[in-house]
Amino acid sequence: MKTRIPIIAANWKMHKTASEAKLFVEKLIRELPEEVIAQIFIAPSFTAIHAAKAACVTSKIQVGAQNMHEADFGAYTGEVSATMLKEAGASFVILGHSERRRLFHETNAQIHQKLKTALKEGLLPILCIGETEEERSQGKTVEVLSSQLEACLKGIAPAEIALAYEPVWAIGTGKTATPEMAEETHLLCRECLEGLWNKKAAESTNIIYGGSVTPETAPLLFKQPNIDGALVGGASLHPEKFIEIIQGII
Ligand code: PGA
Repeated sequence: MKTRIPIIAANWKMHKTASEAKLFVEKLIRELPEEVIAQIFIAPSFTAIHAAKAACVTSKIQVGAQNMHEADFGAYTGEVSATMLKEAGASFVILGHSERRRLFHETNAQIHQKLKTALKEGLLPILCIGETEEERSQGKTVEVLSSQLEACLKGIAPAEIALAYEPVWAIGTGKTATPEMAEETHLLCRECLEGLWNKKAAESTNIIYGGSVTPETAPLLFKQPNIDGALVGGASLHPEKFIEIIQGII
């Protein structure tokens, strides 16, 4: 029996303007079944955070960001700080997404700094980790995930974070990990967390799965004891599909 309250998070990436985000959130609030026991998170672009938050102040939906800078403030043209995110209405931030690592060359050391800043500012970090197809086929999954976790969390005391296991080969490809494969990897992540922190912290941390989650694949993933929800990209852009995924948790 899981005691963790699952998280279903929408990662909209570079999609939806502020007015589109507002319409989406309004529809979500109207159509979301009341019996859903899950934390619903929406991560729009920076420019839509404020509008999305304003549209859901009366609901329990939380709005967050897809990235942030690690410094409190400074000469970092084009960057956004944790304080700015909080004032815009964010309560969480996705950190270390594989697109940030691959396309924007973010390192574990940088993600570690971002985590510390997010925690200091009271934002819930969703730390993303995952192996590439090549790493998995070479049997390096355990090594890759544990070294990402260690590098990102080293020296950070047990804290409220969520972990997103997103196999790189499953993101945006339509290839979801099987529920058994994902469960096995989530358990491994939880054991790593226990080693870095302690059993209590590891047991209370939500570990969510990401990578081509659809209304069809979500229910079986959510049934696994160590899968505590999902980080959804493509399918979260459609309110109907996102609601169906959320319903998979019931
Ligand atoms: P996807 O994206 O659901 O489109 O695979 C997931 C993610 O990148 O977080």
